[in-house]
Amino acid sequence: MRLDRLLRTATTALAEAGVPSPAVDAELLLAHVTGRDLADVRRARILGEDLPEATRTAYLQLVERRRSRVPLQHLTGSAHFAGLELVVGPGVFVPRPETEVLVDLALQALDGLDRPTVVDLCTGSGAIALALAHARPDAVVGAVELSVEAHRYAVANVEATGLAVDLRQGRAQEAFGDLAGRVDVVTSNPPYIPADAVPVDVEVREHDPQLALYGGGEDGLRVPLEVAERAGLLLRPGGVLLMEHADVQGEELPRALRAQGVWREVADHRDLAGKPRVTRAVRS
Ligand SMILES: C[S@@+](CC[C@H](N)C(=O)[O-])C[C@H]1O[C@@H](n2cnc3c(N)ncnc32)[C@H](O)[C@@H]1O
Repeated sequence: MRLDRLLRTATTALAEAGVPSPAVDAELLLAHVTGRDLADVRRARILGEDLPEATRTAYLQLVERRRSRVPLQHLTGSAHFAGLELVVGPGVFVPRPETEVLVDLALQALDGLDRPTVVDLCTGSGAIALALAHARPDAVVGAVELSVEAHRYAVANVEATGLAVDLRQGRAQEAFGDLAGRVDVVTSNPPYIPADAVPVDVEVREHDPQLALYGGGEDGLRVPLEVAERAGLLLRPGGVLLMEHADVQGEELPRALRAQGVWREVADHRDLAGKPRVTRAVRS
């Protein structure tokens, strides 16, 4: 079967299963299984190439798994984030494009600081910490993750990228006591989903770890506020906290941070889709 026909069949099958971007997923799975890049796959499609039988079988097996809504990134084993390619899979949260807004705000906060110190609390795959270490090679970057499994992915990503991140395993609420009062920027994309807001997407609900999703308490803000409290201890006066949140928490989180009594200039920022996404606060 020619590539074009195979891709059209796969796209239809994925669309019928409710996969949000069936055509691109079909192409990306083919790129993965053939070890080619996307442009190369598209070229081969136009040229009417065929696939060897064994590769076609392997491809259709992947399409079948994607049809059952296994995340694309679990099938390819990688996720793109802020210009980096990261290793991901079962047991770790897949980094999302909307989190790049937080990275941009963190880079703005670091602007003009020489050899700044940054700590990323709840680092998962290490996405935010690695993006910052990549963009600011002079920064001293630390990161902590509670899940042993997710921490293993972060270790693999630190090794694969060769970037310098002081990666630790443990509770964010108790991390980096050695840096108390000396950190310039704390970033965090903690678990924040309210208990009754079970995600609609199967990929999220069944494949992202529960520990990465639910923030605790009815409003999902228990862990985020504990993490913010820790950030208050780690940051120097004038240091900046940047915390991602659910779109419904754009007023609630800033209000709760103001109530902690250690923050000034608390303001919320929107993502590229215009949804409330990141709260910025300055340590008094
Ligand atoms: C929403 S995910 C975000 C991961 C990563 N920061 C990103 O943006 O891709 C939240 C992460 O926090 C971790 N986590 C949950 N509770 C934690 C805690 N108390 N201390 C440290 N990490 C925690 C989860 O295991 C998960 O990896």
